Amino acid sequence: MLEPLFGSYKCSARPVAGTLFSGERLLSQDANKRRAALAALSYIEDGIVLGVGTGSTADLFIDALPQYAARLAAVVSSSARSTRKLHDLGIPVVELAEVAAIDLYVDGADEATKHLHLIKGGGGALTREKILAGASRRFVCVVDDSKVVGTLGRFPLPIEVIPMAQSFVARQMTKAGGQPIWRQDFVTDNGNHIIDVHNLQIANPLDLETRFNQIPGVVTVGLFAHRGADVLLVGSNSGVQVLGR
Ligand code: 5RP
Repeated sequence: MLEPLFGSYKCSARPVAGTLFSGERLLSQDANKRRAALAALSYIEDGIVLGVGTGSTADLFIDALPQYAARLAAVVSSSARSTRKLHDLGIPVVELAEVAAIDLYVDGADEATKHLHLIKGGGGALTREKILAGASRRFVCVVDDSKVVGTLGRFPLPIEVIPMAQSFVARQMTKAGGQPIWRQDFVTDNGNHIIDVHNLQIANPLDLETRFNQIPGVVTVGLFAHRGADVLLVGSNSGVQVLGR
């Protein structure tokens, strides 16, 4: 149960004390994802067009959506996976072209900073996610506290590439100091491939996003810095912290 508390949310769940073993850590991470996802429901207003992200945290948000569906003008989805889930719950989905703009976009992230810069694309939906984020008036990003970092790059940076450019882009990533690994047997909703770039220390996300965007064959860089989140909801054992507005 979430209770609003001075712009953040306090959870009634008991805090976990002491060292967590890996199973407990996963349970705690899931609970924290859920806290953040449910806190995003309070950003829904009557008559809005809602954009829905992709991933396990976005799934938790979608699971709670049916009771809000009648208040929404339309829902736009960022992936085939989320569209299927929305349909299964009886929520109709429209194409982005059918709406003038998205009022609210809710999605997770793989890493986030207090500057609201993100790495996204762990689930491979980064291109459509970036389009929806760019088309939205407000982007509310929902993460558990394990995703918040000082410097982006511990999580490998996903890059969607045109298949024929894969090895060329991979070489450019090596030149940039990263270790590119092709995401095997994975094809995006757009028919492209993903390269996950390890070992990047992303001190200047704005600059890196600009530079990587210039490489021919790159479709989308999983850095969301130029269009980062407007609000970051961070779920933890002690509640939900709200960054941004
Ligand atoms: C999918 C994404 C997801 O938002 C990101 O991978 C986080 O996923 P999860 O909520 O499962 O941790 O960018 O492309």
